[in-house]
Amino acid sequence: MGFKVAVVGATGNVGREMLNILDEREFPADEVVAIASRKSQGTEVSYGDATLKVKALEHYDFSDVDICLMSAGGAVSKEWSPKIAAQGAIVIDNSSAWRYDADVPLIVPEVNADAVASFRKKNIIANPNCSTAQLVVALKPLHDRARIKRVVVATYQSVSGAGKDAMEELFSQTKAVYQIDQIEPKKFTKRIAFNVIPHIDVFMEDGYTKEEWKMVAETKKILDPKIKLTATCVRVPVFVSHSEAVNVEFEEPISAEEARDILRSAPGCLVIDKRENGGYVTPYEAAGEDATYVSRIREDATVENGLQMWVVSDNLRKGAALNAVQIAECLVNRKLIEAKRKAA
Ligand SMILES: NC(=O)c1ccc[n+]([C@@H]2O[C@H](COP(=O)([O-])OP(=O)(O)OC[C@H]3O[C@@H](n4cnc5c(N)ncnc54)[C@H](OP(=O)(O)O)[C@@H]3O)[C@@H](O)[C@H]2O)c1
Repeated sequence: MGFKVAVVGATGNVGREMLNILDEREFPADEVVAIASRKSQGTEVSYGDATLKVKALEHYDFSDVDICLMSAGGAVSKEWSPKIAAQGAIVIDNSSAWRYDADVPLIVPEVNADAVASFRKKNIIANPNCSTAQLVVALKPLHDRARIKRVVVATYQSVSGAGKDAMEELFSQTKAVYQIDQIEPKKFTKRIAFNVIPHIDVFMEDGYTKEEWKMVAETKKILDPKIKLTATCVRVPVFVSHSEAVNVEFEEPISAEEARDILRSAPGCLVIDKRENGGYVTPYEAAGEDATYVSRIREDATVENGLQMWVVSDNLRKGAALNAVQIAECLVNRKLIEAKRKAA
């Protein structure tokens, strides 16, 4: 028998993508359950050719669930993940609620799959922030070859990273611009249509935002605590896929040519890097794809052993749903989990 998988947040951007990816990758599930808030109870979501009726989280009994993919936000996860885990389901959580807990592994399978083995302490595994996931996929193979000292990154993050209401806000504001209607920011602090906003998540005492802090803390936890990183995270009027301009300083010399070759054979990476018009990837092309695309790889002569590159990936897939399903696959492939109904 296969596994019973629950998707909590199934009506959201990430949850819907989780259902698509479970089906696309033929995850060995006997049963998939869609769960959301009480207001969505009874509504329908697609899972392959099937239609699932959404169930309400507060009434759901997880005792025969093997894997729970959570994408319902930090507050819901803080309250519910321990309760679900206590019922014996392994929670793979997309929010930031558990990422920095020393007893919870924070996993990007292409980078630190071995760390997943410690999940039993809380029965919770954390998925990183979308901007960190694609960054570490591109950094890991270069770090293995030349040891990264410092990273300076500027992100160009799509509105889908802020949920379905944020996508609706970009859509309605764009329409309003053409119809010369009133534009009222709700989800974002300023107008997002035809604009960019250098502010994601809350401000911290040192002037950085929490989104920028997350990239620092998560890169250290997933890849190497010795790596220094500084980030500027920016919201841009793009629906799906985050882009990143990444400057890396290494301990050892590494040429652009060598970096290109290493990234060409690195798991999860696809190099599109022709020095000609259109010889690079843009967020529009990465949407709906699984790869972390790397373009514009070049040497930075202003520092010793420096490289500059452009990294783009679908934030709903590698940045969230795909990574979560890959973690579940890791548990199955490494035989770290057994289907409850088979074991019974
Ligand atoms: N979007 C990304 O790129 C991305 C990347 C990495 C991580 N994440 C994280 O993934 C999570 C979900 O993001 P999203 O973009 O999918 O958000 P979203 O589109 O706003 O969807 C939120 C989902 O959570 C459900 N939900 C809200 N409150 C709930 C409650 N009290 N009980 C049960 N379900 C509840 C919603 O159900 P209803 O429809 O019933 O309200 C909906 O299914 C967040 O923690 C986010 O930080 C997102």
